[in-house]
Amino acid sequence: MIHPPILLRTISDLRANTASWHSEGLTVGMIPTMGALHDGHLALVTEARRRVDRIVATIFVNPAQFAPTEDFGAYPRTEASDVEMLAALGVEAVFAPAAREMYPEGHATTISVAGPALGLETDFRPHFFTGVATVVGKLLIGGFPDIAMFGEKDYQQLLVVRQMVADLHLPTEIVGLPTVREADGLALSSRNAYLSAEERRTAARLPAVLQQTATAIRSGTDAAEACATGRAALEAAGFRPDYLELRNSETLAAPIPCSSEPLRLLVAAWLGKTRLIDNIAV
Ligand code: PAF
Repeated sequence: MIHPPILLRTISDLRANTASWHSEGLTVGMIPTMGALHDGHLALVTEARRRVDRIVATIFVNPAQFAPTEDFGAYPRTEASDVEMLAALGVEAVFAPAAREMYPEGHATTISVAGPALGLETDFRPHFFTGVATVVGKLLIGGFPDIAMFGEKDYQQLLVVRQMVADLHLPTEIVGLPTVREADGLALSSRNAYLSAEERRTAARLPAVLQQTATAIRSGTDAAEACATGRAALEAAGFRPDYLELRNSETLAAPIPCSSEPLRLLVAAWLGKTRLIDNIAV
């Protein structure tokens, strides 16, 4: 029998709920989301189930991480079906606050992160990581989970959250899980729903070009040259790339030539009105 999750709307209910689980000696995992759930989110739930006794998923389309020109209004909001999917996986609680709960009248505090937040997304969405760090900080301080799960699809976000948690001494382990992909390689994302049928077919070129570029770098092609070729291939396919760059996979700093550091290739590109991001290890 499926038990519907407890629906929590306030930070004080979130806190009371987690505190009561902790007082029973149970471990707690949090899965922060903006809803419009897909198999990538569900993989986070499945892994959390393996690791902790109780799970709270959060659903909040965070206005602070959208610029006025971005898709905050259009972002899919599907709370009822999201809660059903979470119930089917046995999630015990869903925290789905209103914007006023997270950002009360007169709120004046944000969390800004440098380090891994510098460059890449920040060059194109300067507001983004302050919005993400602030809301994730509020969620983690609201619930004090033992672990919180994030997908590697948003790789820079994962490193930014890890940095924030370390710097603020928050007692939560940040767990990153591999990107879940469609059969043709496209990374799952709630924003894929914006793609027309033709764009959806073209979208598979993004992971393909990422793979080709990584292969070229692995086989000794100069990274700048390989990335320039990759960007040209994306443009030829109809994308408008924001960036395709090779970075140190732990710090996101520019790689040091001829070193043996771990590397990650990251891309963001527009297809029509949809901005897609992806990344892979090199
Ligand atoms: O990745 C997301 O869905 C969001 O950026 C997050 C982490 C839930 C913060 O709003």
